[in-house]
Amino acid sequence: MFLKNIKINNFRNIQNEDINFSKNINIIYGDNGNGKTNLLESIYYTTSLKPIKKKHKLIHLINENSKASIIKSTFENNDYKEIIKIAITPEKKALIYNQNNNTNIQSYLHKFKSVLFTPDDLMIIKGEPQKRRDFFNKAIFHLNQYYYSNLIEYNKILKTRNKILKDIAEGDKRQLAILEIINEQFTDISLKIYQNRINYLINYIPILINTVNQLSKKDFLPYLIYKTDFNYKNRDDFLSKLKSKQKREILYKRTLTGPHFDDYKIITNDKEIKFFGSQGEIRLFTLAMKIAHIIYVKETTNNYPILLLDDISSELDSNRKEFLFNFLKTIDSQIFITTTAINHIPKLENMDFLEIKNGKTNWK
Ligand SMILES: Nc1ncnc2c1ncn2[C@@H]1O[C@H](COP(=O)(O)OP(=O)(O)OP(=O)(O)O)[C@@H](O)[C@H]1O
Ligand SMILES: [Mg+2]
Repeated sequence: MFLKNIKINNFRNIQNEDINFSKNINIIYGDNGNGKTNLLESIYYTTSLKPIKKKHKLIHLINENSKASIIKSTFENNDYKEIIKIAITPEKKALIYNQNNNTNIQSYLHKFKSVLFTPDDLMIIKGEPQKRRDFFNKAIFHLNQYYYSNLIEYNKILKTRNKILKDIAEGDKRQLAILEIINEQFTDISLKIYQNRINYLINYIPILINTVNQLSKKDFLPYLIYKTDFNYKNRDDFLSKLKSKQKREILYKRTLTGPHFDDYKIITNDKEIKFFGSQGEIRLFTLAMKIAHIIYVKETTNNYPILLLDDISSELDSNRKEFLFNFLKTIDSQIFITTTAINHIPKLENMDFLEIKNGKTNWK
């Protein structure tokens, strides 16, 4: 499946563009501030229904002189077409998929997969555990459509549990019996989430090791550790550990542990890369993490996600760039790459060049 056409109206600084894309590598180039990332984001938004930056609100996506934004895209898959219309107003967004405005969002998102590379990816390693959980949550969802339902259920139970802890702290001792029941539910959903995460890592880690070794000239011995307070393999153990924290949790009026606190520790050569890696090594590792995920998706579903690379080539030294482009050459995926300097991009077959100036595009 590939994105054949996109019509963008009043999305950020792009006012009115109608662009046909080829199946292969699309290079989007232009000077700073002309709309390269915005164009990439219109594709990212279509495939994830989220802005690139988590903190951006709907109103930030709409052109500042306009009241709404519309992105219409046509994907082609062998013989049939998929038509998607997304309308964004400051209050809400609407998705119309093949003329149906009642689409199941999870199955839609599971179908239209994209993987985005941005200069901010460093934060997957350097940032808070939330960044790593977000990365792996999305990755796991690409391979297991029902994983998000598990997370939604978990968050619901977590919210209820927090409310009960607060009520107990404020004197409502009758809630102690309800807490027992919620603890059982909390345990079951936590074990499910853990199982999904571990199933992903079991297959992902060998691909990651292989990718890191190809990318790096040094002998990096990478591995990943799932970091948690619990023994997820034993339900009773989990429950009693949860109980042992109860007094403290009542004091703090909230749940202090669980899958929403768990982390992924990334080790190279016995050291945590977060604390020991150089900037370049961390960048290389995040790149390897994404490439390994893409390979895993292809191995499992027989399809590559759409790749969106924002300004990546200016960040990499020539060896890494060579590896990256050699990898991109071998994959049968539609790719979008933005750059300020076309001379940083090795010229490959099946590459098309789109210039963007002030939000207006032109094929070259
Ligand atoms: N809602 C909006 N309405 C109008 N303009 C916007 C909106 N949001 C962002 N912009 C503008 O879009 C312009 C282009 O942004 P974009 O990030 O796409 O540039 P870029 O080509 O990727 O630049 P760089 O090379 O620096 O990454 C910016 O000048 C920004 O101010
Ligand atoms: Mg940009």
